[in-house]
Amino acid sequence: MLVFTTAEELSSCLKSQSQTVGLVPTMGALHLGHLALVEKACKENKWVVVSIYINPTQFNNTEDLEKYPVTLEKDLQLLEPFHKQLLVYSPSNQEMYPSGFFKKSYDFGTLTKHMEGAFRPGHYDGVATVVELLFKKTTPTKAYFGEKDFQQLQVIRALVKQKKLSLSIVECPTVREKDGLAMSSRNQLLTTIQRQAAPLIYQTLESLKKNAFTSDVSQMELYFKKELEQSDELKVEYFCVAETENLVPVTTLEKGKKYRFFTAVFAGKTRLIDTVELGRI
Ligand code: PAF
Repeated sequence: MLVFTTAEELSSCLKSQSQTVGLVPTMGALHLGHLALVEKACKENKWVVVSIYINPTQFNNTEDLEKYPVTLEKDLQLLEPFHKQLLVYSPSNQEMYPSGFFKKSYDFGTLTKHMEGAFRPGHYDGVATVVELLFKKTTPTKAYFGEKDFQQLQVIRALVKQKKLSLSIVECPTVREKDGLAMSSRNQLLTTIQRQAAPLIYQTLESLKKNAFTSDVSQMELYFKKELEQSDELKVEYFCVAETENLVPVTTLEKGKKYRFFTAVFAGKTRLIDTVELGRI
């Protein structure tokens, strides 16, 4: 499997291929969720680039960046079965930001006003900056993103539209552990007891969805928080219901509209996010 650290080498290899290229942008610490994106990309493209780069400009908290898991060797082993189609792009900070770290200032309207956008100021400017750089360097035909980071997915779609980029964004369903916990690189940071508690997040979202007993979001929030409070390990940062298209949180559900639950929950110092589609009411 070819591993590139510079876009120059990568693009000279890709130019000689002149075929469809699927990009799977990651920050490493790969898990089955990432591998599902890679598998889909391999089915739909001649070549697949997996980028592995922990982007400092999207972290609004230095401690979070410092403890982000770095597992490059293991990541490359996990990617090995796809080696016939796969090119890995693992750039340095100098390669990505030769003139020093910066993030552009974007206007994504309501998409970045709430949830992660509100609780992690500047996060999506950092994400959009690095994704724009990655698109430029890897020139993909399609790029693959997970539904778990649904807000990120909508932001990237808006970025592609705003910048008139000629690539398609492919949404891939959240991959979950058997007990329902959404797969995430951050799950590696959980202690045994936090890991045991964490599935309660998804279980509660699902039971809210199944029992849609109310259209009053404050009741739902109350229920969600009360359920999660049963565990000493979990602390809810936010729970909200937002419209799928514009990501604006609502207080009541209206017929005919599409909504999603969004939540961020701390397990100790590890922050877990999840989202579940409510569908059309
Ligand atoms: O979802 C992620 O892992 C990151 O936000 C991304 C898209 C690779 C940008 O750094």
